[in-house]
Amino acid sequence: MPAFSIHTYGCQMNVRDSDLLARRLRAAGFAEAASEDEADVVLVNSCSVREKAEEKAIGKLGMLCAARRGRPGLVVGLTGCMANRLGPDVFGLVPGLSFSVGPRAAGPAIVSLVERALAGERGLFLADANRARPMDAETTKEAGAGEPHGSSAPASFVTILYGCNQRCSYCIVPSVRGSEESRDPRAIVAEVREEAARGAKDVCLLGQSVMRYGRMGFAWPEALPSPMGFSEPLPRLLELVAREVPEVRRLRFTSGHPSGVTDELVRAMREIPAVCPHLHLPMQSGSDRILREMRRGYDSARYLAAVRRLREGVPDIAITTDIIVGYPGETEEDFESTRRVMEEAGFDNAFVFKYSPRPGTPSALLEDDVTDEEKRRRDQILLADQDARGQRCNDRWVGRTVDVLAEGPSLRNPARWSGRTGQNKIVVFDPAPGLRAGDFVRVSVSSARPQTLYGALDTAQTRP
Ligand code: SAH
Ligand code: SF4
Ligand code: F3S
Repeated sequence: MPAFSIHTYGCQMNVRDSDLLARRLRAAGFAEAASEDEADVVLVNSCSVREKAEEKAIGKLGMLCAARRGRPGLVVGLTGCMANRLGPDVFGLVPGLSFSVGPRAAGPAIVSLVERALAGERGLFLADANRARPMDAETTKEAGAGEPHGSSAPASFVTILYGCNQRCSYCIVPSVRGSEESRDPRAIVAEVREEAARGAKDVCLLGQSVMRYGRMGFAWPEALPSPMGFSEPLPRLLELVAREVPEVRRLRFTSGHPSGVTDELVRAMREIPAVCPHLHLPMQSGSDRILREMRRGYDSARYLAAVRRLREGVPDIAITTDIIVGYPGETEEDFESTRRVMEEAGFDNAFVFKYSPRPGTPSALLEDDVTDEEKRRRDQILLADQDARGQRCNDRWVGRTVDVLAEGPSLRNPARWSGRTGQNKIVVFDPAPGLRAGDFVRVSVSSARPQTLYGALDTAQTRP
């Protein structure tokens, strides 16, 4: 049987989609190649969010198609957001590409596309139609049939909200992922259950603007009451999933928005034991003028108020963020506001991106007037600030004992293991004999770096 390999760019939603595509291909009898060089089918699951991400994917596809000279039968397929953005033009950019398929259409179509491409067809194209059948529980169940359970990593993702309606001025996601569509809570529970059966202990519920879950064209099923008395859809969903799938000991959701940090959500985070004290809350900028231009729907005061509510309501919460530097017209003063607000928010971690104009977005009409060099300078300053702040955040954990979900040998030093806390902090420790990925252990933290905690197993308290 032909072997496949998937190369993934972009966000967690793409990671999840790649996983579902792999399951479908395995269920259809394809094997996962030991390495890309041994694959008969290579899929590139792509991201359009910044120009660099697209360039990388195009470079990768070009290289794969060139490699075909020595391997004439090699199938090279494009999936993900670039398929929607580029449309059939992609075949001009990447001569020899076997097929291109959008992220929502890919699930149901992937097996037949691969089979047709293996039979020699080229140039097959399928963009997402609005009503394309999503990759959801229904379809993954059928795809996963017959597979051994317990095969997935201890941490896993489930998409609960497709698309995005926010239309931030700089962002291509709404045009490549379509409009917001919330999945039925029962389908979500079924899919989380399936992840649990495969061994997942930590499940992150995904949506580009996840706090919009259930806010559009959606009525929460009456048959699903909320014993905790929640009326908002996301708290209700968290309660439901935690109750129905207790094997999943940790539940997260991402990405957040300050408008969704309601009293109910804070209470759900505090009172549902499985819900982790961790929130990724992209801020993008600390300048009110830039935030307005970005159409983010909040100013720095509202953002900070949400952070305060979270810190007051959820003990030991870790808050992480995304920042864009060099948005058109961003002055030194705007940038200094961002530094100040980041400090005030006290982020545990921050991902900093250099602004990249995306075709068709409102901000692409503005002059990209902050030079690359200046963007790099601002990026480095924010990263240095964050290093110091991350160190301070993590120093608070030294001397404490934390619950860690063991994930496997640490990348830097395979003799040690790494895992994560509920706050999503990486913890490195020496494993005990017999430790398995997916075990929960107690680690007493002895030292900290900006991104990592180090400690020793507290064997007396290690839970089975
Ligand atoms: N839906 C998420 C973000 C998804 S994209 C949210 O709104 O929070 C992930 C991150 O990429 C964004 O938070 C933003 O910081 C960054 N990003 C998006 N478009 C960008 C662009 N045109 N240039 C640079 N960074 C961008
Ligand atoms: Fe993009 Fe804004 Fe939607 Fe996030 S919320 S995906 S940044 S449009
Ligand atoms: Fe990229 Fe698409 Fe995710 S553009 S960030 S892979 S939704």
